[in-house]
Amino acid sequence: MKKKIAILGYGLRGCIYAGYTLKYPQEFEVTAIIDSNPDRLNLARALFDCPVYEDYKAFLKDHIAADIVAICTQDAQHREHAEECMKAGYDLLLEKPIAATYEDCLKISAAAEKYKRRVIVCHVLRYTPFYKKIKEIIDSGKIGNIITLCATENVGYYHQAHSFVRGPWRNSEQSSPMILAKCCHDLDIIRWLIGEKCKEISSFGALSFFTPENAPENAAAYCSDCKVSNCVYNAQKIYEQHEWMANYFMSGEKTPQRIARYLRHTQYDKCVFKTDNNVVDHQVTIMKFDKDKTAMHQMTAFSKEIYRDIKIHGTKAELFGLMEENYLEIRPFAGDVEKITLNPQIEYGNHGGGDAGLMHDLYRALNGEATEGISFLDVSLDSHKMAFFAERSRLQDKTLEM
Ligand SMILES: NC(=O)c1ccc[n+]([C@@H]2O[C@H](COP(=O)([O-])OP(=O)(O)OC[C@H]3O[C@@H](n4cnc5c(N)ncnc54)[C@H](O)[C@@H]3O)[C@@H](O)[C@H]2O)c1
Repeated sequence: MKKKIAILGYGLRGCIYAGYTLKYPQEFEVTAIIDSNPDRLNLARALFDCPVYEDYKAFLKDHIAADIVAICTQDAQHREHAEECMKAGYDLLLEKPIAATYEDCLKISAAAEKYKRRVIVCHVLRYTPFYKKIKEIIDSGKIGNIITLCATENVGYYHQAHSFVRGPWRNSEQSSPMILAKCCHDLDIIRWLIGEKCKEISSFGALSFFTPENAPENAAAYCSDCKVSNCVYNAQKIYEQHEWMANYFMSGEKTPQRIARYLRHTQYDKCVFKTDNNVVDHQVTIMKFDKDKTAMHQMTAFSKEIYRDIKIHGTKAELFGLMEENYLEIRPFAGDVEKITLNPQIEYGNHGGGDAGLMHDLYRALNGEATEGISFLDVSLDSHKMAFFAERSRLQDKTLEM
């Protein structure tokens, strides 16, 4: 049966979930869109025939019918928006991270219990054909028992510059630490694949490069005023090459002239060495799980492209994977290497099919069907705890028991 969804926060993520309903109208219809930015609401009006609100409290007053409210505002707003919507009787599709602090995550969990609401956290990677296949291989017993796992998240130098040096997640006091904002997906995947509870965690990392000491001589405060040639972090060049990121400061056509006009002297035009960023540009986290299983996760800004790789070492075989290429290798100790190239038909959204996979599973879950990957709040809370403890470990320079 078709389900009703309201979208709170019609930014990049909210647009993806709302857009899914246009592609798959047999599954969902949007019954309300809420965003404090009137320009965003004008974009919503052009596509959806539903009430729109600048203030979520006005939405709550109107008692609009919705099987689920998607909370797609910024990390630090999640607690208030989640609590108030649950209090009003709505179940939630909650963007990750659950909240910007562990205390707020626990408050959301307590509210879910108090108001008896279901909360599904958007761990989109779980729904990708790539990680689903890895889980299937592990569950088949082909690689034996997992002993250790090693995963790398290559953020991409330009993506780091956009999101974590200039953009919304650049400063942990205003948003959340990198290990939460960027890596809570990965810690969730590691926890899910290993299938045991994390017992101890240790993490190291720093902001080493995107700091004033590393600014080229004569670098200006804004790229649009800067005379330094061949800087790979030149904002105009980055946004011309990666138009999707330009949506954070403009809408409509992304011609070089329009980008230059909307970019000039904004936060996104700032020199990457001269802004108020404080989140790390590299971080490594090591984990000990029950049954002495171990895992290592590395996040680095310093990669040419955005991609994830993973190696899982089992008692019978090694499993290697490159997410962006949808490529896997099973390397059994007895027998030949099995190469698997997945060819998923990704018809909508980002994250290697994860966005569409999440929405489809959500639709099934709301219709009472069993869905294996769907991550309810209790499970996500566990992997979020890993991220918060990793950050604490990094700051305190010691291993922590969970
Ligand atoms: N699941 C994922 O893989 C994934 C990826 C990127 C971001 N995220 C998370 O999704 C959330 C949204 O990120 P985004 O990239 O879409 O950000 P965004 O800035 O594009 O969108 C946030 C929207 O919320 C609106 N807003 C702000 N305050 C509001 C208020 N009080 N009431 C109503 N609307 C308000 C803003 O105007 C904006 O349109 C964040 O928590 C982020 O960490 C998740």
